[in-house]
Amino acid sequence: MIYLDNAATTFPKPPQVAMAMSRAMARFGANPGRSGHAMSMAAAEEIFQCREAAASFFHADGPECVVFTLNCTQAVNMVLKGYVKPGDHVVTSCLEHNAVTRPLQAMADKMRVTFTEAAVVPGDNDATVNAFRQALRPNTALIVCTHASNVWGIRLPVERIAALGREYGVPILVDAAQTAGVLPIDLQDSGIDFLCTAGHKGLYGPMGTGLLIAKKGEDLQTIIEGGTGTESASYRQPKTMPEHLESGTPNLAGIAGLRAGIGFVQSKTAQKIFLHEMKLIQTLYSGLKAVNGVTLYTQPPDTAHFAPVLSFNLAGRESEWVGQKLNGMGIAVRAGLHCAPAAHKTMDTLKGGAVRVSPSAFTKEYEIGKFLQSISYLTKNIEIQ
Ligand code: ALA
Repeated sequence: MIYLDNAATTFPKPPQVAMAMSRAMARFGANPGRSGHAMSMAAAEEIFQCREAAASFFHADGPECVVFTLNCTQAVNMVLKGYVKPGDHVVTSCLEHNAVTRPLQAMADKMRVTFTEAAVVPGDNDATVNAFRQALRPNTALIVCTHASNVWGIRLPVERIAALGREYGVPILVDAAQTAGVLPIDLQDSGIDFLCTAGHKGLYGPMGTGLLIAKKGEDLQTIIEGGTGTESASYRQPKTMPEHLESGTPNLAGIAGLRAGIGFVQSKTAQKIFLHEMKLIQTLYSGLKAVNGVTLYTQPPDTAHFAPVLSFNLAGRESEWVGQKLNGMGIAVRAGLHCAPAAHKTMDTLKGGAVRVSPSAFTKEYEIGKFLQSISYLTKNIEIQ
């Protein structure tokens, strides 16, 4: 199979990821930080090593800023529901995933929270920042936006939006599900207050891992309380980070795999992975542009304004039909709405969705070539049922 669905989850994972998971299960599969015996301490050490690796990868202030979550969605929920109060206003973008829009809508329904979706203008960061500025209100408590659209690959100038937030005293949460491990994210320089990401995409960890990295995580209200292995005599949740936001037994094998995934990205470098994937996306874009009956929705993806994700449609066919045909030809993509109705509404593709292609560090140029041949075949034989 030619796997081009890496925006959903990267596949394959580097072999060292499964090896690290298996080693953790076999050699020190005890409950980390709960007991004083050697195996429990070895498990706690593995988790600490991953915390340190993530802190260093994103230039966080320290390992205590790194919170392990189940996925990016959980991390986003923890910040939105832990920070925003009844009656507050939130500024977001018109390209968000349901990980952002659904909790915001739930908070609007239950807590009188209001939110404004600022327009993102692809290729014009001044216009995008201006739209965020116009959307701010006196009661804006938080800005939340994706680093890059999981559908269109359009990047948001998050550093400039963070600077805007600082000007108005409004913190920013960045959803980096599609960009961590691909685009540089520096928490020292960027002004990002809360960074949420998946572990299983560009960081090459297993599913069931995510990260919340917070400058001041202790300021968040908790949405889950429970055992932390610390301050156990108290009925109250510890204020100390990261325990404040981490309750219950963690995903030891997953976290060990995530550490190996981060190590893989560090050894390749995110910059090289990004340039490799962007070259493939640019080849794909020009190849698709040459095919009659293909609709593309953005300008050619340049390295300054795009992340390596591209969606398109074939005239006269539902995106799901194209996805199924490609599956039959041994090619995996994601068609439909990609859990991002806002992003589809923005491009007027809410009705039929689009066909999304997303490469990884492992994707080869010849695979993009085969993909283009398959699309060309489908357009010439569009009557195929
Ligand atoms: N959010 C993931 C995607 O875009 C699952 O496919």
